[in-house]
Amino acid sequence: MSEKPFPIAALAGCENAVCFFCAGFYGENAEEHVRDAGIDGLGIDIDEERIVMMAPLFPRWQFVIGDAYEWLEALVSREVTFDLVTADPQINQFARCWDLREDFLALSDRALVLGIGDKQLREARRAGASVMPRAKGSWWASW
Ligand SMILES: C[S@@+](CC[C@H](N)C(=O)[O-])C[C@H]1O[C@@H](n2cnc3c(N)ncnc32)[C@H](O)[C@@H]1O
Repeated sequence: MSEKPFPIAALAGCENAVCFFCAGFYGENAEEHVRDAGIDGLGIDIDEERIVMMAPLFPRWQFVIGDAYEWLEALVSREVTFDLVTADPQINQFARCWDLREDFLALSDRALVLGIGDKQLREARRAGASVMPRAKGSWWASW
């Protein structure tokens, strides 16, 4: 299996996942990788048209059309967890997602892969986080 966009180690032992911002490229950036590892997912995106196009490619997954931030808050408050959490926001939302990293972490039992920008990348490195070399940077935490 390809090491991109996630190191295989990030997926080890994961059986389920929630993927925020899942639909921009019909899952090509991130979600296909999760699916191809045999992991069942819950995909969340606000773009209904793309979710409808994407869903048949992920027959074992569930999808939610809605605001990722509202769902993040709701899932955290219900103390729901998933083995793997991914968030692949648009560039203009990197900072907002980085500020919410503790919430994303709270949802995750094993691994979090968060798309981040240069500023957040520097901060993550300073904090000693695992960081993957990727075009726009990803912060990867696994335990
Ligand atoms: C970089 S794309 C995601 C690409 C996706 N991971 C893929 O591989 O196809 C960012 C996505 O964020 C979605 N988005 C933007 N704002 C959102 C919000 N507030 N809640 C949920 N999704 C949102 C967009 O519809 C877009 O699909």
